[in-house]
Amino acid sequence: MNFPYPTLRRENGALFVEGVALTDIANEFGTPAFVYSARAIRDAYQAYTSAFAGMRHRICYALKANSNLAIIDLLAREGAGFDIVSKGELMRVIAAGADPRKVIFSGVAKTCAEMHFALEHDIDCFNVESEAELHRLQGVALSTNRVARITFRVNPDVDPKTHPYISTGLKGNKFGVAFKEAARLYRDAAAMSHIGVVGIECHIGSQILEVAPYEEALQKLLGLADTLAAEGIALKHIDLGGGIGINYANDATIDLNAFAAMVKRTFGDRPQTLYLEPGRSLVGNAGLLLTRVEYLKPGEAKSFAIVDAGMNDLLRPSLYQAHHEIVEVKARPEIPAAQFDVVGPVCESGCFLGKERLLRVQQGDLLAVLSAGAYGFAMASNYNTRGRACELIVDEARTHLIRSREEVETLFASERVIANSL
Ligand code: LLP
Repeated sequence: MNFPYPTLRRENGALFVEGVALTDIANEFGTPAFVYSARAIRDAYQAYTSAFAGMRHRICYALKANSNLAIIDLLAREGAGFDIVSKGELMRVIAAGADPRKVIFSGVAKTCAEMHFALEHDIDCFNVESEAELHRLQGVALSTNRVARITFRVNPDVDPKTHPYISTGLKGNKFGVAFKEAARLYRDAAAMSHIGVVGIECHIGSQILEVAPYEEALQKLLGLADTLAAEGIALKHIDLGGGIGINYANDATIDLNAFAAMVKRTFGDRPQTLYLEPGRSLVGNAGLLLTRVEYLKPGEAKSFAIVDAGMNDLLRPSLYQAHHEIVEVKARPEIPAAQFDVVGPVCESGCFLGKERLLRVQQGDLLAVLSAGAYGFAMASNYNTRGRACELIVDEARTHLIRSREEVETLFASERVIANSL
């Protein structure tokens, strides 16, 4: 098979991330473990900057995909800004030492406290998702005597042809303001004392594999920007959101150069800066989940490879029936290939990482679940009182522990049994 990025490779049958053998990582840090390649993340970022060379642009990494401080820091050093959806994510950006003035704030439910905090840190802009939010933001900005820069997230009603749970730009969605309401809202916003209108945004979905829905959305955004410009409301940036898909198995995904060519052509000579909010496409293929086979369980109808990682570590297969490639860490040509459902320890039939996979494995072997860098650890939970996995990043020949394995004691340290008198 083709591995999703060049720094993941086999050498004499052993799987390596950059210069480090995954077996060595498992021996030193244990399993389950998320392992990322620094090179693969840097390359993914550089692929964006080189595709958009010659056009004013800003890449705001959607850090919900993977918000580890080391990854924020790595991307900040490459020049990235950040797309956040909570005060917690902004606190992470600050804790990583990145610049909050390169942060844009998305999300439908921003609280007063979150707005306050973001204004204090002088973030680049708020992507406003409703009329009520606009009024709240004006109030908070007024009370702190600051101007809140905004875009409206408009809902362009285009079909990104992706999984219904992760398509966000259709009419029936909770996100953004209706396209036909947008011009009026811009006029209202422009008249507000503590709001500064700076741009327009949309985000139509995730794991999008075609350029066409973006082209449709961009045309709508630019059309609206032109109408507003004619009324004297000049926008400085056009934000096309995130959503570019990655290759999980045999997905023919978007070629970034073709995407950039479409954007450049559609923009023409308009003066605005392009913003993008990629998450998955920067980190998804750069990470894997390393897990060990605890037991093989042959059955009449099915055989199971029971591993030490579960749906609490990687929820995507259970939640979206998402496919992640699973490969042996050490090739074992001597063992006959057999078909397994690769399942985890969590007490739910839905706890699986892959179904009907042909593997050459024995009890105790290591497996790598690929393309787990995005929405992997970020969506992990403590279900079944399982501590979350550790996270490691390999940079050439060195492995850095960027998050320790969670100690089980910490999971219930803030809980109390009720006093006897009750
Ligand atoms: N911008 C906004 C406003 C978003 O809501 C998202 C993702 C992104 C950018 C980044 O999208 P990306 O480039 O990563 O596709 N948990 C799901 C994905 C949920 C995406 C939510 N929004 C999954 O595991 O597939």
